[in-house]
This record gives sequence, structure tokens and C-alpha cells, in this order.
Amino acid sequence: MDGAAELVFCVNGRKVIEKNVDPETMLLPYLRKKLQLTGTKYGCGGGGCGACTVMISRYNPITKRIRHYPANACLLPICSLHGAAVTTVEGVGSTKARIHPVQERIAKCHGTQCGFCTPGMVMSIYTLLRNHPEPTLDQLTDALGGRLYVCVCFSKDDDDEEEFLPLDPTQELIFPPELMIMAEKQPQRTRVFVGDRMTWISPVTLKELLEAKVKYPQAPIVMGNTSVGPEVRFKGAFHPVIISPECIEELSVVNHADDGLTLGAGLSLAQVKEILKTQTYHALLKHLGTLAGCQIRNMASLGGHIVSRHLDSDLNPLLAVGNCTLNLLSKEGERQIPLNEQFLTKCPSADLKPGEILVSVNIPYSRKWEFVSAFRQAQRQQNALAIVNSGMRVFFGEGGGIIRELSIAYGGVGPTTICAKNSCQKLIGRPWNEEMLDAACRLILDEVSLPGWAPGGKVEFKRTLLISFFFKFYLKVSQILKTMDPVRYPGLADKYESALEDLHSRNHWGTSKYQDVDPKQLPQDPIGRPIMHLSGIKHTTGEAIYCDDMPVLDGELFLAFVTSSRAHAEIVSIDLSEALSLPGVVDIVTEEDLRGVNSFGLFGEPEKLLETQEVSCVGQLVCAVVADSEVQAKRAAKRVKIVYQDLEPVILTIEEAIRHHSFFQGERKLEYGNVDEAFKVVDQILEGEIHMGGQEHFYMETQSMLAVPKGEDQEMDVYVSSQFPKYIQDIVAATLKVPANKIMCHVKRVGGAFGGKVTKTGIMGALGSQTPVEHGCPVRCILERGEDMLITGGRHPYLGKYKAGFMNDGRILALDVEHYCNGGSTLDESLFVIEIGLLKVDNAYKFPNLRFRGWACRTNLPSNTALRGFGFPQSGLITENCITEVAAKCGLSPEKVRMMNMYKEIDQTPYKQEIDATNLIQCWKECMATSSYSLRKVAVEKFNSENYWKKKGLAMVPLKFPVGVLSTAAAQAAALVHIYLDGSVLVTHGGIEMGQGVHTKMIQVASRELRMPMSNVHLRGTSTETVPNANVSGGSLVADLNGLAVKDACQTLLKRLEPIISKNPKGTWKDWAAFDESISLSATGYFRGYESHMNWETGEGHPFEYFVFGAACSEVEIDCLTGAHKNIRTDIVMDIGHSINPALDVGQIEGAFIQGMGLYTIEELKYSPQGVLYTRGPDQYKIPAVSDVPTELHVSFLPPSQNSNTLYSSKGLGEPGVFLGCSVFFAIHDAVRAARQERGLLGPLKLDSPLTPEKIRMACEDKFTKMIPRDEPGSYVPWNIPV
Ligand SMILES: Cc1cc2nc3c(=O)[nH]c(=O)nc-3n(C[C@H](O)[C@H](O)[C@H](O)COP(=O)(O)OP(=O)(O)OC[C@H]3O[C@@H](n4cnc5c(N)ncnc54)[C@H](O)[C@@H]3O)c2cc1C
Ligand code: FES
Repeated sequence: MDGAAELVFCVNGRKVIEKNVDPETMLLPYLRKKLQLTGTKYGCGGGGCGACTVMISRYNPITKRIRHYPANACLLPICSLHGAAVTTVEGVGSTKARIHPVQERIAKCHGTQCGFCTPGMVMSIYTLLRNHPEPTLDQLTDALGGRLYVCVCFSKDDDDEEEFLPLDPTQELIFPPELMIMAEKQPQRTRVFVGDRMTWISPVTLKELLEAKVKYPQAPIVMGNTSVGPEVRFKGAFHPVIISPECIEELSVVNHADDGLTLGAGLSLAQVKEILKTQTYHALLKHLGTLAGCQIRNMASLGGHIVSRHLDSDLNPLLAVGNCTLNLLSKEGERQIPLNEQFLTKCPSADLKPGEILVSVNIPYSRKWEFVSAFRQAQRQQNALAIVNSGMRVFFGEGGGIIRELSIAYGGVGPTTICAKNSCQKLIGRPWNEEMLDAACRLILDEVSLPGWAPGGKVEFKRTLLISFFFKFYLKVSQILKTMDPVRYPGLADKYESALEDLHSRNHWGTSKYQDVDPKQLPQDPIGRPIMHLSGIKHTTGEAIYCDDMPVLDGELFLAFVTSSRAHAEIVSIDLSEALSLPGVVDIVTEEDLRGVNSFGLFGEPEKLLETQEVSCVGQLVCAVVADSEVQAKRAAKRVKIVYQDLEPVILTIEEAIRHHSFFQGERKLEYGNVDEAFKVVDQILEGEIHMGGQEHFYMETQSMLAVPKGEDQEMDVYVSSQFPKYIQDIVAATLKVPANKIMCHVKRVGGAFGGKVTKTGIMGALGSQTPVEHGCPVRCILERGEDMLITGGRHPYLGKYKAGFMNDGRILALDVEHYCNGGSTLDESLFVIEIGLLKVDNAYKFPNLRFRGWACRTNLPSNTALRGFGFPQSGLITENCITEVAAKCGLSPEKVRMMNMYKEIDQTPYKQEIDATNLIQCWKECMATSSYSLRKVAVEKFNSENYWKKKGLAMVPLKFPVGVLSTAAAQAAALVHIYLDGSVLVTHGGIEMGQGVHTKMIQVASRELRMPMSNVHLRGTSTETVPNANVSGGSLVADLNGLAVKDACQTLLKRLEPIISKNPKGTWKDWAAFDESISLSATGYFRGYESHMNWETGEGHPFEYFVFGAACSEVEIDCLTGAHKNIRTDIVMDIGHSINPALDVGQIEGAFIQGMGLYTIEELKYSPQGVLYTRGPDQYKIPAVSDVPTELHVSFLPPSQNSNTLYSSKGLGEPGVFLGCSVFFAIHDAVRAARQERGLLGPLKLDSPLTPEKIRMACEDKFTKMIPRDEPGSYVPWNIPV
């Protein structure tokens, strides 16, 4: 072995030599902090989000080929990169040199919003193009299918003709010749990298690998690090020695023999997939298509996958039933072991011995009359671990239809892969028929038993999947038997064949139709035109700077939080001594450091910053460790010892809060007409309820801040990822007891916020600014994804109860609704959410008599807060659910009942504000027409009558989204515009750029008002220094309000300069910006806010300025046996007034729709019965991925309409689209109802949100759901509880 090796690799063509490398370092922090290549982003640290995607290129001196593959830098140890070339987004192209066509196209096709995940997207596509210059759509889908879809929209109007640069081949980085020579020439020897705590050994021959393994039998063999890495990062595993073999030929073997294929354990799963494409291993290929994302498949090795034996491994069940064998090697020699149940359960006699390694895997070919199938069901179709998966194999011998061999293995239902060995044994000798199926299901359920408390929850669903999968296998084999011997095997009725087909999968396409610009509008006037996001190109090149991209400052410290691990407890003691004794620890911020200011309230009830006496949720901040590095701060935070004494009661759910009368203040109420009287005259009355789960913001950039003391006069600059800089300024100033004019808060841009960067960021700012004052050093605090999700709360879970009185024709005459939201442990904005929810509960309907009441529940969960839509997505769903039930009772389609009850023309809302519903009706009719609703309804019904196990559903919902913030003062806005003597203009305003494109729109406004090209106007960011006291950016109003302020400032300037311009009308701005004329070239602009008031006593007011109208029609297909669903098509029609920038507006509508779709269908927060949030990263919490976008997505606008009070008649669109996601919920509802009707289940259908695969499957009741054992409620403690 070679001691003290040098690590050599290249980054963007530049050679990097590390002499004293720390093997614990991953590529992501190395790129970001050491090389200052901040284009590669941190989003989760666990391989689940793709924000850190880079391209790795390796040269193989034997094959002389270069392999390029995408990889997640967050899981790549730099020691594994010796001899490799890394390409980051900076190496692909930049504005300083030349941008790459991939970057240009994404930007110009409006494929960026907040831009935080864009570099990762660029790298995925770039790598694909390096490997396949003309990729097929399938290859593109494969590369991007599992990517998270936070907000991206690629929209281009059909008539929008854009010019693109051609590819310049010279701009492509070549594989560094130096690395090639190094690989060819250097004598290959084991390299050893020694760090403070860890030693990394990279053997390059099999012999050296075995020697290392003998010397360090406990050391893991790290290949892709996708299993070892997350265990180290998230589960506290530590390995003092790591063995990481490199380029060992024997581990990459591919050998085709007569009886099967031998694959090297070192091959990546992506390479395995490529190899299997030419073989007939359909079952393995199927799973390799959905296993993780493209990056993980390229990093993870076959051997690592097998040896890890994860409980939800997709491949092990298949390899086990396929009678695969493992070829092992040790100093003692070779041996083979079967990949069977004993191996999978790590039985010592069937496992690898300490000095042994896995060299390759033998995968036998199927014989004649032998059939293998794979099944899996996950929360999301791609890039999600399976809830249950399975491999099944049957062998009949030469015809006869008698089972000779049967193997069934399941993942996800035990601590590792489980084989149903006894069941299979008992079925041998039986014919493949219905009786066998019935017996098999009972045997499987008996053998693979899951207790009610089983980890992961969803127990009844998992039990059902066990046998549903077997039923699918039964049908599949029956069908093949029929094709092989139709005489002996009559096979299935056509109707049942639907169980076998994969859900409708076609390549995605969509259209968006922009509004026409008035032909009379001047060509240089940008208003109404699809202008690219101002930072679009910088998003794609990685040059857009976010908070944590700011360079490390001299003496900078890092702050990490210590949080409560109990839901309700007294803190008996806090021991800081061990944490303080660790190297690098500078301070621990406790309540005493807060100079008596330990609380700050934005909404009436003060919220504590640190809790040191009684904690009221898991995740509450107790203290914060400050150290000289992130690693040390986080290590020390784990060493703070807190002793708790649990307290009663622990209230977690809404139902518990109702039982304990645990509410924030009293009820909120709104009444209209006479509900009680109306109930007396209606034909029918129904009562129902719906529960709706919460939602995580899942902004891609986690909460981030950097506080920099200025060194004099107590001044401090706070750089922060916030929607509300003024609040940060106030809270920091208050806790430091200095005037606000000493604290300046700056926000360049925010990598997504969705309401989550308002109050929670303030608390972080207040705590983060203590140390700069104490120690005179800058302090940075960047939350990890897991702590961000734990601490910051999200959308409020809701319980809606309703009583509706209606006539037999569907007219609803009376509605009595109660809303309860789970506010968590502090008030935050919960009451405001309830109020907005009540004001919007009518959605698009005129209910002549109604009573709405709402309560915000105080519980022992992290405090919930604002999230896009702010109460409306919950409130609207409750109303739509009630309408759907009314329709069912009347035997009518929900769409008919919706139309019947809708506002028509000019009317009055329940709070007596006038509403003109002409455009609502127009949207509804347009949507009916563009979606061909009637024709497709017939087609869906026909499909459903012909298919028993697959059902389609179609649903359309209307939208009336009132826009406003219930207060004139809260809608004030200001701007500052300077004209410089060279004629250039600088605009500043109070709005935050968080992806919605507000800065782009503001420049469009300045350009129109000052009649100058957009290129002449610049915008540097938002700061309390330039625009004081600005309101929070949110509520769909950021462009509306700030645009009016910018317009005002521009008009002031224009008025001042008019005399000069009129003297020289042909002049330029350089001529007009005349310093000598003594005219101020700087102006503030102001908008005092929309008139707004609401009197809760009388239930009357004018809380909103205007209404956004829309409608969405969605079609889905469900698999009744697994609960999977596919979004087939969505048509959206919106009334957006007069769009300022249709490209940005389409992006907002699509992004919001997809976020809503996630909310209503797959995003599921899971809490333990002790109040601990389990779902703390993209691996456990599933937001929609690219593959979940409806196969067809069409967005169109009504023609421009006038809206006199707003900015150029535009309407705010940030939030309304979220609610339209519920069209998918109701389409699934429709499909489930069809399934139930066919099965004779005609009673009421209660489906809660999110409508996950679990809920879909369990609602499609059949003989399998009846067969499973059920647990007596209360007889066990479930793994998780709905809150
Ligand atoms: C974001 C993400 C998503 C994922 N999604 C899925 C999914 O959908 N479905 C699924 O099935 N899996 C999924 N996985 C798991 C993934 O498949 C495994 O982590 C991966 O296959 C492990 O391979 P590796 O090379 O990275 O293993 P490593 O982490 O490098 O090693 C894992 C273990 O294998 C041992 N080992 C490796 N090679 C050998 C050898 N040759 N001989 C002896 N021991 C060896 C090591 O000692 C170590 O203990 C996901 C993982 C991540 C991070
Ligand atoms: S940060 Fe690496 S995948 Fe999320």
C-alpha cells in the first residue's frame, strides 16, 4: 500500500491536487466551500432531490472508453474521485464565456422559477446529451422522470418563436488528457487517505482488496456510497476505515453463459439496466426503470444493493426468487452462496464471512414454462422506495399447468426481504386455477403477517398488496399460458385483463396559449409579452447567488440549533458542558443571552424564541451552538444533554384538541341568510366530514442566513432567505435592543418560499444575530433539510364538517360548515388562516343560506404557518367534497351540481361584497369545451364498463380566488427609482424575488413607464436600506402592489423630466438625465394599498380587491389492485385579467397546480404517536416528480379583461392554481366510485386527502380487502397517527 497518497482529479478541466484530504468530505461541500463553485446546490444531502447533480467522467484504460454519468455530489466522497473528471454547471457554460444550448433553452423556454434546482436539471440534461447527442423521448424521460417538480414549467406559446444559439463543439470540456495519461501510465497501487477520524483505502486489484478486507474485516466496501452515505449522515453511523475499490476489472465482469448471465458486483445499476436491455430479464428491467433517480442508478452498484439488504430493496426479492447465486472471494478462495432467504435475513451460515467480498452475481435465464414477474407500489411512481414490492416465479415443468416450483418474496413488509417459503411449498403440485389462488392468498397472509404496529404504518394496505400482487401474478401467468396453449388454458375474460396492463404511459406534452398583445401597443413596450425571467440564464449557469452561495467571510462562525425531542415536557436540566468542551465550539446561545427579550409576536400572541422551561412540541428550539465550522457546530449540538419530565396532556390531533377544548381564542363565524329555516324546506339533508393532511413547503433552498456585524455603531447586515426582510429587521433589532436603523436586511433572491419564510425565518434571524454582537464575528446558519422540515411547520391539517340541505335537483339551499385547523403549538398565522378559509369557503358557489364557523386548534406539534393558498386549498376542498356528495345523493354528476350552484353574473358574496361572475362562467364553459368534457365523460364510462381492475375518472372544478390581505395597511408598497447620469436606471422595491418573477415584471413596468428598453433598467435585490417597512411578499399580490409603487416612482421622474424631454424629444436618456438642470433623478414611489375592510361582528365587508377565476378538468386512471394512479390529462382555463408577462404567469399557474396536486394526492406528513415527525426529507416525503405531471397539460387564458384598480389590469396568480390540483383528487374520487359501483358498493364514499395509493386501494373494496386480517382499533399502538 502507498502511504499518504495524493488525491488527483479534475473539476471543469482544472486539475485539483489534495495532499491532506479528509476522507469524510463529500464533493458537494468541497465544490461549494473550497472551490467556490456554488452553482451546485444543497437541497437534501441524501441523494433524493437532485439539486447537487454533477457529471462524472471516468476513463477506462482497458476499454479506452470514457464513461460520463450524472451523480449526486452530496453522496460522493471526494476520495472516490481519484482520476475522475467532474463537470459542474460552471463548466458547462457561463455568461462570462459562452452559455451552453441546454442552459439557453431551459432559460428561454421559461424552464426556471426560483432557479435553485435548475443547475441540477441542466447537469442531468447535459450528461444525457454527452452520452446521446440526439436522445429519444424515452431517454429524456429516463433522465428526468424522477426529478422533483417543485415549480418548473417549460412553457412556450405555439407562436412564440425564439432564436437559439447553435452548439459550439469547442465549448464542450474534453476529458483531461492528463487524467488519461495518468490512468494509462501510472503503476496502479492501493491509495490510502488518512484523515483525523477516518482512513480511506482504495485498492486497485482484487488481491489488494482482499488484503485490505482481511486487515479491516469490519470496514464497509464503499462503491456508490448510496447506502453507507445516508447511514453516516442521517443515522449517525461511523466507520473508522473505508475500503473503496476502484476500477477492478473482475468487479465489472459481464459474462453470458448458456444457463445465465454473470454480472460484476461493481457494475452500477444503470449499467446493469443497459446490459439487461438486450436480454429477456423483463422483471428486473421493470424495477430498474423506477428504482431511485438516474443519478443514484449511476452511482449505486449491484453488489452494494444486494449486500445492503434494505428492507425495501427492489432487486433482492427478484434475484431471490430467480435462484441467483453470489460469487464470493476471500483469501481462502472462491465460493458460491445462494441469494436466498437465509442470506437476506443475514443468517451467519448463509452470509458473507468477514474477509469475503462479493465479486459477481449469477442470474439464471428462465426456462420454458417458467415465469418471473416483478411488482411494486410506492407513494409516487418514480424515485420513491416501494411501500411493498415483490418478485414471483413459478415453474410448471413440461406443460401440465401443475406447479413444480414456486417462489415469492416481498420487500417492505419486514426488516429485510421476506420469502413466503412455506406457502410456496404447500402449493407445489397444485394446478394453476382459482382454487389455488384462493388458497395461496390465505397462506401468504398467514405466513407474511404484519402486526398492526409495524414500522412504516399502512399495515392493512400492505396486507392487501401482498395478495393483490399475487393475484396479478396469477392473471399474468394465466394469460401467458393461454397464449402458449389456448386449448388447455382458456385464460381470462377481456374485462379482467386490465389488471395486467401498466398504467397509461405516454410521453408528456402540453400547450399554453398566451393572450394576444394589442397590435396598437408599441413594439418596445414589454408589458404583456412573454419576457424570460430576469435571472433565467443565471439560474441555468449557476451564477445566480443565493444566501449560502455568499463567500465565507473572515472569522465566520456557524450556528446549529438544539431542538426538543419531546412533545410536551418540562425541561429539568440542560447540560452544555460536553458540547462546550468540543474543539471549535465558541458559544452556546441560551435564553440568558437574549437580554430578557425571548419572545416576539407578529400576530398578537408572542412566540418564544428559545424554550428552556416547558417544551410544547418536538422540534422546539432550546438553544443554539456556535462553532468555527458547520461540522463542529452540528456535532456539538448533538452533545447538549437535556433531561425532560413528560407532561400531560399531549394533544396531537384535531380530534384530541376538540376533546380538550384546546383552541387559540374563540370561534370565527360568518352567517348569511337563515340556515335553520332553510333546512326545514329542503328535500334532503346530508352530513359529512373530510380530513385533510398538512403539507411541507419543500422550498428547494432551506432556511438560510448570514449575519455580519459592521464593527461600528452596533450596525449589522443580515443576508437572509426571507419573504419578509422588515420582520427580520424588527425582530433582530428588538432582541438586540438596538434601533431598527442599525440593522439592515438584504435579500437578493430566495430559492422558493411558499409562505414558509415569513415567521420562522424571523426566529432564526433573531438567534443568529446574537453571536455577531457577542463575538464580533459573522455567523452563518443554514438548516439541513431534516431540521428545516422538523422545525418550521407547514400547511395546516384540516377537519371539515358539513351539513347541506338541498333539493332533489341538486340545488343547495343551506350549508352549515365547521372548520378546524391543526395550528400546532403556537398561534403564528393560524387564526388568519381560519378567517381566510371561512371567507373563501363558498368558492364559486352561491349558497343562499349558510353558516361557517372555524377554530384554530392548539396542539403539541410544531407550529403550522402560511403556505401558498393560505387556507383556501383546505376550505375549497371541504366545499367541493360536500358538493360531490350532494351530487351522489341526487344521482347527478358533480359537474352538473357545480354548474347549478355557481354564481351567475352580478351577485353578492356571503360577506356582502359584490361579485361579477361573468368570467367565472366563461372559464367554466371554456374549460368544458377545450377539455371536450362531454365526449371524454362518455369515453371514460365506456372504458370503465370494459375494464374491471382499472378505472378512469374525470372531474372538473371551478375556481373563484379572492385576492387581498384583509387590510389596507398590509397592502402598502413602496419603491425607489434612480436615474444615473449615463441614462441607466436602478429600481428597488419592497417585493422579494422568490421565483415568481416579480423583479422581471418590475423592470417591465419601469421600461413601459420610462419608455426605455428593459436592458437599461437594473434591479439589485431587496433591502430594508432602500425601501423601509415593506410588507411581507405573499398572497399573490407582490407584483400588483409593488408594481403600482414602481409605476408611481417612474411617473414622478417622468413628470419632473418632462420639460427637458419635450425640449429634446429625439434625445436619449443620457441627454435627459441632466445633472446641470438641478432636477432630482431619484424618486420614491408609493401605493397606499387596496381599500379593504372586514367586520366579523356584522359579517360584512370588502376584504378583497378582486377575484381570479378559473376552472380545471382532470382525467386519471387508477389501478384498483394497487392504488396507483396516473394523471392523464389536465386542462386549465384562467381569467388573469391582462397578463403582464404570460410566460411567468403560466409558470405560476402550472407550478401551483402541481403543488396542489401533490397536496391532494401524494404528499403525506407522518407523525409518531409521540408527536415526532418521521417525514424529514425527499426520501420519506414525496412531492410530485416530473413523471407525475399529467401526460397532457393544457393551460389557456380568457381574453384580456379590464380591471381598473390593478396594475395594467393584471391579476395576481401566485396562489390560485394550488386549489385546481383538487380536480385530480375528484377525478380519482370519480374513478374509485366507478369501481365501487361495479362491485355493488352504492353507499356513501368517504375519502380523505391526500388521496394516496393506500386510500385508493382500500376504497376499491374487493375480495382481497375482505380477506386480510383487521386489527381491533385500540388493541395496538400504531406506528403513525393522522393529525
Ligand atoms: C435517494 C435514494 C433512492 C433510492 N431508491 C431506491 C429504490 O427506489 N429502490 C431500491 O431498491 N433502492 C433504492 N435505493 C437504495 C440503493 O439501491 C442502494 O443504496 C444501492 O444500491 C447501494 O449500492 P452502493 O453501491 O451505493 O452501496 P454502498 O453504499 O457503496 O455499500 C453498501 C454496502 O454494501 C457492501 N458492499 C458493497 N459492495 C460490496 C462487495 N462487492 N462485496 C461485499 N460487500 C459489498 C458495503 O460493505 C456496504 O455495507 C435508494 C438510495 C438512495 C440514496
Ligand atoms: S442535495 Fe444531493 S440529492 Fe439533494
